[in-house]
This record gives sequence, C-alpha cells and structure tokens, in this order.
Amino acid sequence: MSDPLLSWRKEFPILAKSTYLVSHSLGAMPQGARQELEEYARLWAERGVRAWAEGWWRMPITVGDRVARLIGAPGGSVVMHPNVSICQSLILSCFEFGGRRNKIVCQDLDFPTVLYVYEAQSRLGARIDTVASEDGMTVPLEKFLAAIDEETLLVPVSHVIFKSAAIQDVPAIVARAHAVGALVVADLYQSAGTVPVDVSGWDVDFATGGSVKWLCGGPGAGYLYVAPRLQRELQPRLTGWMAHARPFAFETGEIAYADDVTRFLHGTPAVSALYAARAGHAIVEAIGVEAIRAKSLRQVELLAELARARGLGVRSPVHPESRGGMLIVDVPHADAVTRELLHREVLVDFRPGAGIRISPHFYTGDDELQRVVEEITTILETGAYHRHERAGAMSF
Ligand SMILES: Cc1ncc(COP(=O)(O)O)c(C=O)c1O
Repeated sequence: MSDPLLSWRKEFPILAKSTYLVSHSLGAMPQGARQELEEYARLWAERGVRAWAEGWWRMPITVGDRVARLIGAPGGSVVMHPNVSICQSLILSCFEFGGRRNKIVCQDLDFPTVLYVYEAQSRLGARIDTVASEDGMTVPLEKFLAAIDEETLLVPVSHVIFKSAAIQDVPAIVARAHAVGALVVADLYQSAGTVPVDVSGWDVDFATGGSVKWLCGGPGAGYLYVAPRLQRELQPRLTGWMAHARPFAFETGEIAYADDVTRFLHGTPAVSALYAARAGHAIVEAIGVEAIRAKSLRQVELLAELARARGLGVRSPVHPESRGGMLIVDVPHADAVTRELLHREVLVDFRPGAGIRISPHFYTGDDELQRVVEEITTILETGAYHRHERAGAMSF
C-alpha cells in the first residue's frame, strides 16, 4: 500500500540510520531545524541588538500563533514558554487558595511534573484531590467527574495519558467542571501533533504542552493557551516585564498587565529554542493532524496485532479510537530489553509501571513496526537483555 507521508522521511536525518519509534518522547529533528538555528545565529551576528525589534521580542507570540492553529485555538491565545512545568505554575499563580473553592482535582496518571506543581500549592492552602487509576492505564470517567464539586477550583487533565496512551474525554470533563464553576487545564503534550485537538470547540480554560514530542520541535518551546474570555481577568504572580503593558517605559512599582495574551509572559524568551521549533511546527501543519491521526490509527493497530501475534503483552486501551499515538508493550525485563533495543538502533523508551513505549509517527514505515516486534522477540528468546540488567544508565 502506498503511503504518501513517507515522502517526509528525507527531511529527518536520523531516520536513515535508526528505527525511530520514540516520538512520544523526542520527535525526530527535521533538517529545517538546523537551518532555522543558522538563521538565528546569522541574525545575532549580523543584526545584533536590532534583532529584538525585528522579530525576536514577539516570537513567544508569533510562534504561539502557529501552535494555536495546531490545537484549534484563535490567534492571540497562545504564548511560548520553556516547558509545561512553567506554564502550569504560571496558571496556578493566577489563583488564591485561601477560600472555600480551593480544590485541585487531578489524577495519579497525570505526568509527575504537573503533580509536583499542584502539590506545592498545598502550602498556599490548596486541597489536592488525586483520583486514582484502578488499572494503571485509565481513570474511570464517572469517578473523576464525581470528584469535581462546588469546592473545585481547577481540574487538570492529560488529554492522552503518558503511561498508557489512553485518550480522556476532555469535553465531558469541561462540561462537568463548568457546571460547578471550576476551570479545566488540559495537558496536550501527548496528543497535539498526533491526535486532533480543539481547545476552542472543547471550551477548555487553559491548555499546556510542548514541542519536544509529536511536534518535532526540540526542547525549550512549551506553550500555554489561555481562553480569550479569561485573559483580562487573570493576574499571574509568576510574571515579569514582558507581561507589562509598557515594558519599555521601565516603570517601577506594581505591574500594569498588558491587556492581551502577552500578560502571560514573564522575562526574556529563549529565542533559539523558538527558532528550532519552527521547522517541526511547519511540517505538522503542512501535513495536517487529521492525516497524521489517520495513519497513526492504522499503524498503532498494526503494531498491536504484531505484538499480540508474538505473544507480547499490550498495556494500552484495546480500541484504536481510545488510544493516542503510542502503544505500551509490556514484557518481562522491559527496562533491560529497551536498553538492548537502543543498542540495536531501535529507539523506544521504558517507563516503570508501564512497559516499553513504542510510537510510529507520520515518517514511520510498516517495516519498522515489524522490526521492533521481531527484535523484542529475539532479545527475549536469546537472553540478550541480560547484559543490561544491572541498572545504572538513566532512562529517557
Ligand atoms: C503529559 C506530559 N506533560 C508534561 C511533560 C513534560 O513537562 P515539562 O515540559 O515541564 O518537562 C511530559 C513529558 O515530558 C508529558 O508526557
């Protein structure tokens, strides 16, 4: 079967020598990223300080506007920050937790970094209600909805769960939260770029994510969406001069917030990371997330079939529509097996309590899915994983 998306492979140098199935962690680098970084260096070298006025200063907004198109947000609603932890901290800094409505209802399958940020708010009076998964893959929707009540201030939710690829019903969560006056913060990191996202249609209040994974944009280009209807009423404590209505007046005293999305900025942006991210964003936009999802649905199911046919365990939802872009394959000694796969140029990763995370992306060939399943089978049969069993190296 011909696959037009394979024509993008030549844009990604690492695909020539590796079986690259780890885009849920670090998307492959497009060669355009190198050109973007060269352009950044050229401007710094040739334009010097004028580069700020010629584009650098606005980049958290201009790059954010492209991300907005990828997540169904209007222009002027997304700003770029280095990572999700900062974006989530910035959201939380808009709220007080001393009153009766001070609950944060989250899930034990949220990515740990966001849980650390929420837990830290308990020092300010926030009550953290962490709804537990029963199977380590999903959180029952009814149980989660029932935890959201009139005392709930914020409801963070991962659109796609990082440990299982389970997709969560964000619109249902928004409906429940809004019915009781709570606000929803969607973490889109494991969905945007591989599963269609529509923050406006879902009516979420905030969303965060980054460029590292499915957007093939590299580290340092996280994003924060704030629903336009909320922007003017929020006053982040995590702030700085870029959020000021008149930053170049250098006024002292209390901040006068800008009256648009720039009020969600803080200090000098990491411009080089924003340059690096643009190439991946452009490719994902050119292909379109719908086309990426159509291919992903087919390939993740193919991977699941191949794994099951070899007797390998699968720890992701069974129905393709309930899964994001990756599949978790659970085998004995999965950590050591992963290390041996890396050694064989088959790039995947391992997460404790889950298993081997494997992802096709738009640039993946079906033969690569066959290869990973065959390599896992051979590694298990031959005991080739033994040499990695003494832990030590870090697991990315
Ligand atoms: C769902 C999710 N949220 C957040 C992160 C990372 O957060 P940060 O950008 O703060 O490193 C990840 C993975 O790295 C993730 O999978």
